[in-house]
Amino acid sequence: MNPLSGFFAKPGVVIEPIDARWAPICEGLHGASFAYGWSKLDFESYLTDSGIISDGALSSAGSRLDGFILSRLTPPDAEILTFAVDPKRRSAGVGRKLLEKHLENLERAGARLVFLEVADDNNAALKLYERAGFKEIGRRENYYQRADGGRRAAINLRLEI
Ligand SMILES: CC(C)(COP(=O)(O)OP(=O)(O)OC[C@H]1O[C@@H](n2cnc3c(N)ncnc32)[C@H](O)[C@@H]1OP(=O)(O)O)[C@@H](O)C(=O)NCCC(=O)NCCS
Repeated sequence: MNPLSGFFAKPGVVIEPIDARWAPICEGLHGASFAYGWSKLDFESYLTDSGIISDGALSSAGSRLDGFILSRLTPPDAEILTFAVDPKRRSAGVGRKLLEKHLENLERAGARLVFLEVADDNNAALKLYERAGFKEIGRRENYYQRADGGRRAAINLRLEI
């Protein structure tokens, strides 16, 4: 391998806290990722709430948001509320990087248990959570309604950190 290839490589994705300036972009990414999107106002509210930990995957020297993850922190617990990567940027490790850094930030902020719910057919997310060490603690049948009217179970996961 060329020893200079790393030097010339494009700057990668950086995971950093995000604020309400990103609300319109979050709205767009969320709408492209879930059947029932959250509004810009929803994101403005979450991104200014001191009880919410919000991390974004920033690229192009901080000018582009490729994904985000938001959790409600109530030490010693935290709950992942939403997590999405731009459909154009998926399967490139952005989700894994975001989740890893976010879990570190939650731990630093006092979380010891992290909870979330995920649809039982969401293979990409289930794979990421399993790899991070999350364990299934429950299941709620017919919890998610899909745009086509179909329903899927929610899997409740928990991670001890
Ligand atoms: C879940 C999500 C955030 C993952 O983001 P991402 O940037 O694509 O994640 P990564 O590239 O880090 O890793 C995804 C892993 O799942 C795998 N994967 C992708 N699509 C998959 C699929 N349909 N079935 C199984 N595995 C899949 C990838 O290959 C990768 O595994 P690998 O590292 O072994 O190759 C993204 O798919 C997304 O935004 N989905 C829509 C919103 C959502 O479902 N959020 C989670 C709600 S709980």
